[in-house]
Amino acid sequence: MGAVPLAALLPQGLWASPAKSYKATVLADVEIGAVRPEFHSHFAEHLGSCVYGGLWVGKDSPIPNIDGYRRDAITYLKDLGIPVLRWPGGCFADDYHWRDGIGPANKRPKRVNIHWGGYVEDNSFGIHEFIRLCRMIGAEPYVAGNVGSGTPAELREWVEYCNQPSGSTLADERVANGSPEPFNVRYWGVGNENWGCGGPMTPEHYGEQYRIFANYVRTFGGTKPFLVACGPNGNDMHWSRGLLNTLDPRKLPDGWSTHFYETGTLPSTQFTEDAMNTQFRIFQRVEETIIAQRALLDSYDPQRKCGVILDEWGVWDRIPREDEQRYGKLWQQSTMRSAVAAGLGLNIFNRQADKLYMANIAQLVNVLQSILLTEGPEGKRSVRTSTYYAFQLFKPHRSKTAVRVETESSDPLGLSMSASKSGQELIVTLVNPSGSDLDVDCALRSFSAKSGTAKILHHSDLNACNSFDNPDVLVPKPHEIAVENGHVRLKVPALSIVQASL
Ligand code: AHR
Repeated sequence: MGAVPLAALLPQGLWASPAKSYKATVLADVEIGAVRPEFHSHFAEHLGSCVYGGLWVGKDSPIPNIDGYRRDAITYLKDLGIPVLRWPGGCFADDYHWRDGIGPANKRPKRVNIHWGGYVEDNSFGIHEFIRLCRMIGAEPYVAGNVGSGTPAELREWVEYCNQPSGSTLADERVANGSPEPFNVRYWGVGNENWGCGGPMTPEHYGEQYRIFANYVRTFGGTKPFLVACGPNGNDMHWSRGLLNTLDPRKLPDGWSTHFYETGTLPSTQFTEDAMNTQFRIFQRVEETIIAQRALLDSYDPQRKCGVILDEWGVWDRIPREDEQRYGKLWQQSTMRSAVAAGLGLNIFNRQADKLYMANIAQLVNVLQSILLTEGPEGKRSVRTSTYYAFQLFKPHRSKTAVRVETESSDPLGLSMSASKSGQELIVTLVNPSGSDLDVDCALRSFSAKSGTAKILHHSDLNACNSFDNPDVLVPKPHEIAVENGHVRLKVPALSIVQASL
């Protein structure tokens, strides 16, 4: 028998190769644009146990709650800071009629959720409960309106109900339902995936619908609506051109939504390196999509009044039926691989800061690439996922100015970096999706630093995750960093996210 290579004797995900040297430069004088906090926004749909069970357990639940909201979810979300929260869908939005969710909870109608398993919802979570959630966690609300099965009148009345301070019948109804202050909802989605579950429409048909719906969504109480049109699935230029050619060029939307999921072929905790690499490579197309959609919009909207919104993104792995039966539809664990994927996305947003307006990862709790998992209808425990901590490591970028970083190569499986600065502070995030540990030597141009600190999220097992029994397997830890003579030196192990603060 020949010699067995050392790598074959190691558990999957551990690489035996020695650290490779890697050189990069932060060009602090080459500014890209503001890192909008909205790049770190989220999405909560009436799907599986995202809203019911995850965020909302009801006032009479044995699960610790604040007026019906799961207590620990509120604490964790508030701690992280959720800039914008999109609701109620997703596909659900185009079958949702907002009047079902107002008034005394015991009188609200029960409806079948036709998109996500045909279960019956009691509508105990409606617009009042959503706005209160946003206020509790400090998020700006983003409401997706119903174009697929709704009417312009229904959407127009919803906007008035939310935003008219007082004096109209709809405003008075809101007050009678317990909310004297207007909700001042600025972000309104005009449909969702109207090329698919919210249709299916042609781009021209949706364009005509958009023109009519948008005409009736007005400013009430001084809150000017920011209207988000349903843009393409990924980088579908046929949809984008067809829609842009149909819209009134003088009344383009404020936001242009695109959805781009990074699909995976295996269950989240059973990934192989090959499956992981295939998934990581998709991020190159996400970046190309942002660039291409912005470039197309530029030809219709040279002043960039309409912003590109990555309205839904995140890893969407193969979901085992048993997990869905136990925890709810599209319930997915988040692993070290998922955290690296989140880091790849968040670095792209910084690098394309001048072209992107907002990004909402799917979804907030229990569904797809969530930041929290809860234990099921009866379970009291919840856990912050690896993706939660990836967002935490990127948080210091918020509101800083993204600056250019030059790396050795643009290989989608090579080191991914981004940097942002504000005054005397520079934040650099390094995401290593590769199988090699890296010794990184990063030169700083036009920025002088004497010292710095770093944090790392890392595990050598790509399938490692935080579970209800072991919630702290993946948490950021302090990491060694050396700063001298205009260079930062640090180790970036295979499968890690490192945040350096200088
Ligand atoms: O996030 C899950 C679903 O993915 C959403 O409902 C839909 O918009 C997309 O297809």
